[in-house]
Amino acid sequence: MKFGTKAIHAGIEPDPSTGAIMTPIYQTSTYVQTSPGQHKGFEYSRTHNPTRKALENSLAILENGKHGLCFSSGMGAIDTIIKMFEPGDEIISTNDLYGGSYRIFTKVFQRYGLKFNFVPMHNTEAIEEKINEKTKMLWVETPTNPLMNIIDIKACAALAKKHNILLAVDNTFSTPYLQNPLDMGADIVMHSVTKYIAGHSDVVMGAIVVNDDKLRDTLAFLQNSCGAVPGPQDCFLVLRGIKTLHVRMQRHCENGRIVAEYLDKHPKVGKVYWPGLSHHPNHEVAAQQMKDFGGMISFTLKSDTKEDAVKVLEKFKYFTLAESLGGVESLSGHPASMTHASIPVAERQKSGLKDSLIRLSVGLEDVEDLVEDLRQAIG
Ligand SMILES: Cc1ncc(COP(=O)(O)O)c(C=O)c1O
Repeated sequence: MKFGTKAIHAGIEPDPSTGAIMTPIYQTSTYVQTSPGQHKGFEYSRTHNPTRKALENSLAILENGKHGLCFSSGMGAIDTIIKMFEPGDEIISTNDLYGGSYRIFTKVFQRYGLKFNFVPMHNTEAIEEKINEKTKMLWVETPTNPLMNIIDIKACAALAKKHNILLAVDNTFSTPYLQNPLDMGADIVMHSVTKYIAGHSDVVMGAIVVNDDKLRDTLAFLQNSCGAVPGPQDCFLVLRGIKTLHVRMQRHCENGRIVAEYLDKHPKVGKVYWPGLSHHPNHEVAAQQMKDFGGMISFTLKSDTKEDAVKVLEKFKYFTLAESLGGVESLSGHPASMTHASIPVAERQKSGLKDSLIRLSVGLEDVEDLVEDLRQAIG
């Protein structure tokens, strides 16, 4: 089955009691038992819910994985993955990553005795240098948020196998439409479903997909114990969003290319960060592991000042200034003061995240209007 067919049909059965083609919203906390322990596979909605189950099946199939688990947010999913580890364990993470991931690693889990090493993971040697007997997992985000570095998933998988450690990939920016990390040797795929998968800026949700049964059981145990589960109405909205994921992603990529090429030629624009540009330092790896290059673009102005970046952000008409990304509408952001404000300035500077950086989530509007918006805002 090809991706678009999977997006529409995979994991979804017509409702057995009515034939409803859309999975109903099972708005229930509990399920009747005819005798203690005798039920239809559902006991309590923190553990299982039929609407959530349909979504988990759909996401597992889209990621070419065996098991899906949905969470109340992307952070809920990350929290659950990290809770698999013990004090003293070490995790190597990319140094250019979503600010909330950096915050949970350093401000929450470091307090419980876990150690995180942040390295530029597009340099595989830099990763291997940090691996020791306490290392338990590599945490990869690719493309990275917000600098759009591309990390070679296959090279990381080879390294993880060699040292017998896990490889987790935050696949939020790519979605299963553009890349499937499990196929490249990753053990865990994680998503902020809030973004492209849901796609309409109306849901906050996270997901994990794995192949290994034991890993699934550990994660499901932690999920059920800690309770970060999504409600059935949100699961329904995401099931609906997924049906157009392939079509939306095609348009995000098409619009992304036109916007990136426009910015790249603009005399007032300094650096453009988009993996589809042939001068992007990791363009070759991106071309190998991604089907296309996505709709996330970052750029700086030639003047390279925060003040000028803020002026542009204030002038946008369609690139609405807001946190988040991946919805049908175009958004803009200032990572240093918004999504990545929780990363200390010194760390931001080390990874190359400047105060002058503007991040765009290119939406599905007519691209001529988006280019016009850039023209009037940048001048
Ligand atoms: C790459 C990435 N991972 C994880 C998250 C966290 O997801 P959520 O906001 O759904 O908790 C985000 C949110 O922006 C993100 O961009």
